[in-house]
Amino acid sequence: MAKQKLIYDCDPGHDDAVALMLAANSPELELLGVTAASGNQTLENTARNACQVLQWLGREEIPVYAGCGRPMVREQLTAGDIHGKTGLDGPVFPPLRKAAEPEHAVAFLIRTLLNSAGDIVVVTSGPMTNLAMALRLEPRIGEKIQRIVLMGGSYSNGNVTPAAEFNILADPEAAHVCFTAGRPVTMIGLDVTRKVLCYPDIVARMAQVNTSASRLFVDLMGHFCRTQKEIYGWEGGPLHDPVTIACLLDPDLVVTKPMHVEIDLSGGPSYGRTNCDAFGYLGLPATADVAVDIDVPRFWDLIEAGLRRYAGMGDGI
Ligand code: RIB
Ligand code: CA
Repeated sequence: MAKQKLIYDCDPGHDDAVALMLAANSPELELLGVTAASGNQTLENTARNACQVLQWLGREEIPVYAGCGRPMVREQLTAGDIHGKTGLDGPVFPPLRKAAEPEHAVAFLIRTLLNSAGDIVVVTSGPMTNLAMALRLEPRIGEKIQRIVLMGGSYSNGNVTPAAEFNILADPEAAHVCFTAGRPVTMIGLDVTRKVLCYPDIVARMAQVNTSASRLFVDLMGHFCRTQKEIYGWEGGPLHDPVTIACLLDPDLVVTKPMHVEIDLSGGPSYGRTNCDAFGYLGLPATADVAVDIDVPRFWDLIEAGLRRYAGMGDGI
């Protein structure tokens, strides 16, 4: 069976790093490149973190492209309270050998999509600035995007304001451009990612895997779960971003419902909210498949299997 081609746009970020573990070494996937977005931390940090993780995992041949350093319109928003000053606080990495490519992420997205057969899924797990800018710079890529799968938004409440989730709030205009591009969209929001909480028993389970990836997972979760508990009081941090990749590996992992979704660009207290018309009140066509449930045990099985695939690989062996 042909591998699913994907470009992964992310803002590593602890949960992005776990998503990268799945994206970079799954037999079902062909990761064409990683594009770094400014989000959890500044672009300098997120691009370096993507390189660091791929090098650690022994997958440094996968190219990383640095993208836009700022949102399209609003002021920059970061999440150092969760991810720390480096954006990947916790793990201690060896000296970095891998560098980002000289080509800008937006140029890479345009070049790769235009030259494709329309068989590339674009996964985003940070602010959607890079993809939005590519769509604005070269609208012809729209028809070449097989599907946009994003971690972002929620049809309930937010995690930065009562209304808005971080990835959308950090660049609402970019999210609007992507949601209105006329391409199939799968929205993995907080409604399901808050069901995959990385409790201590999950960390202990993954520690038994004993690969470079599992050791990195444990170190990442040590920091991530501590800050999540400090801020939200949860015993386990919600492992948001890997759900996007996991549902490429197992399309039955999440249950989705077609909904008309509009991004609130009002600039008021609901700025950045994903207004999801779950019951069709507006009578408008659906614009996204919104995740409404997830098979939690299956998700953790996919994470464990992903970590096991790194046996004998990477810096951490
Ligand atoms: O709101 C959660 C999202 O914001 C995740 O993608 C996390 O990495 C941050 O980017
Ligand atoms: Ca992220």
